[in-house]
Amino acid sequence: MREQYRAEGLAETDLAATPVAQFARWFTQAATEAHLFEPNAMVVSTADAQGRPSSRTVLLKQFDEQGFVFFTNYDSRKARDLAQNPYISLLFPWHPMARQVIVTGVACRTGRDETAAYFRTRPHGSQLGAWASAQSSVIETREQVDTAYADLAARYPEGEQVPVPPHWGGFRVAPETVEFWQGRENRLHDRLRYVAEPDGGWRVERLSP
Ligand SMILES: Cc1cc2nc3c(=O)[nH]c(=O)nc-3n(C[C@H](O)[C@H](O)[C@H](O)COP(=O)(O)O)c2cc1C
Repeated sequence: MREQYRAEGLAETDLAATPVAQFARWFTQAATEAHLFEPNAMVVSTADAQGRPSSRTVLLKQFDEQGFVFFTNYDSRKARDLAQNPYISLLFPWHPMARQVIVTGVACRTGRDETAAYFRTRPHGSQLGAWASAQSSVIETREQVDTAYADLAARYPEGEQVPVPPHWGGFRVAPETVEFWQGRENRLHDRLRYVAEPDGGWRVERLSP
């Protein structure tokens, strides 16, 4: 699989008109041809107001021309970083295909209606989990979260509607650059980067591997 993609390479003439359309092509290939496990798992990097970076894996839940959407706790480290510094990087490490995609852009919170609509699609247990965990805070013991979860499960049994936690929701990343990296022989990889233009269009530039 890796060899096949290496041999194919990535040419300017292959690219879709927008980075999101190109991402859709590669994402479909990752899911349906390469059968990657969780191709929507991406490394999300943020930086705090002092410029200190941090990274973690998060699942991409939606993407379209408006941007790339993920959901998390708004009190988490990443969300606190984003409140101070909205610049963000998303990296999709599709190693078995010798590919990676790197998105940079600006993150803003999704609206409450959109968050609520997505929250309703989550399994009951995940909905309770969003309430039970004060994500990124230091806790004394494992029992603390287990007890919090058990209390919530008693209050909201299966079938009962769980309210959307106010401290939980989505971020939409509006892309400013999107780089498509295709591994090639002898480390002579293809790197094509879309860069947003002020008129709303995209410029494509080739980077040295
Ligand atoms: C495969 C995978 C998927 C994950 N998906 C999410 C997610 O969608 N949202 C989320 O908040 N955390 C997700 N996590 C947990 C994060 O990596 C991270 O531990 C958590 O968001 C807290 O990060 P922070 O303290 O840097 O804010 C995922 C972890 C893994 C390994």
